[in-house]
Amino acid sequence: MNPTAVRVERNDRLLKWFNASARDLPWRQTVDPYPVLVSEVMLQQTQVSRVIPKFDAFMANWPKVTDLAEAPTDELLRTWSGLGYNRRALRLREASQLIAANDWPDSIRGLMDLPGVGPYTAAAIGSISFGEDTPAVDTNLKRVLSRWAGEPLDGSALDAYAHDVVGHPAGTWNQALMDLGATLCTPKTPECSRCPVSEWCTQPAVYEPPPRQSRFEGSHRQLRGALLRAHLAGMDLHEAGHDLDRSEAEIDLALSALEAEGLINVAIQDC
Ligand code: ADE
Repeated sequence: MNPTAVRVERNDRLLKWFNASARDLPWRQTVDPYPVLVSEVMLQQTQVSRVIPKFDAFMANWPKVTDLAEAPTDELLRTWSGLGYNRRALRLREASQLIAANDWPDSIRGLMDLPGVGPYTAAAIGSISFGEDTPAVDTNLKRVLSRWAGEPLDGSALDAYAHDVVGHPAGTWNQALMDLGATLCTPKTPECSRCPVSEWCTQPAVYEPPPRQSRFEGSHRQLRGALLRAHLAGMDLHEAGHDLDRSEAEIDLALSALEAEGLINVAIQDC
């Protein structure tokens, strides 16, 4: 079969499968760019099951982009708490402020100028909310497409391959591949017998494991999280650091960094 026929048939089968078995996720009830932006930023480094309640809480607290633009820092971080990588929340608010002031950018390039929005997130929003025919390549898509191609793809080769095989509408195609990667075409034990597009897959064994995540216990990130939670709960910051057996110097260093990043205000807490 020629490559065009493969692409058409494979995407047809993929989209039919997605139509029947898409995960029911709250940000999929709409293509409004604001909930799509919030969900995509949350999903950058956090798994779907942890994002769902936080996404719902965000939408309840700040239903419109203009509401999030005015969110007070502590309430913002308290609502974000549990998702990790808290600077994402501040960048998301900054992006909301820019959108509230200037309206939505009208291109993927323009979306990428928003704080916290990289090529993947811009492509996801552009394809889902603005009908752009662009693949949004995250680690799930990288794995699935590498298996389709029969070789580990990366960088510009991955990009070119994704643009070659992307289906229409790309927003639906991207989310279909996210679901395929999350449910059947998983890293260790892909369920090829249930895969709707296994017929056109070259090499299911192709998979490069991601670099191992460094240990959380004892990490600087663990300390930062504990200090921020203590701050939001109005508790003693140094005590929270000592509970983790950290030295005064390490606690001070972490506090200075959190303050410099606008995540906490020690001066106010100490008053
Ligand atoms: N991961 C990143 N974006 C996603 C989306 N829109 N749906 C499900 N998982 C995702």
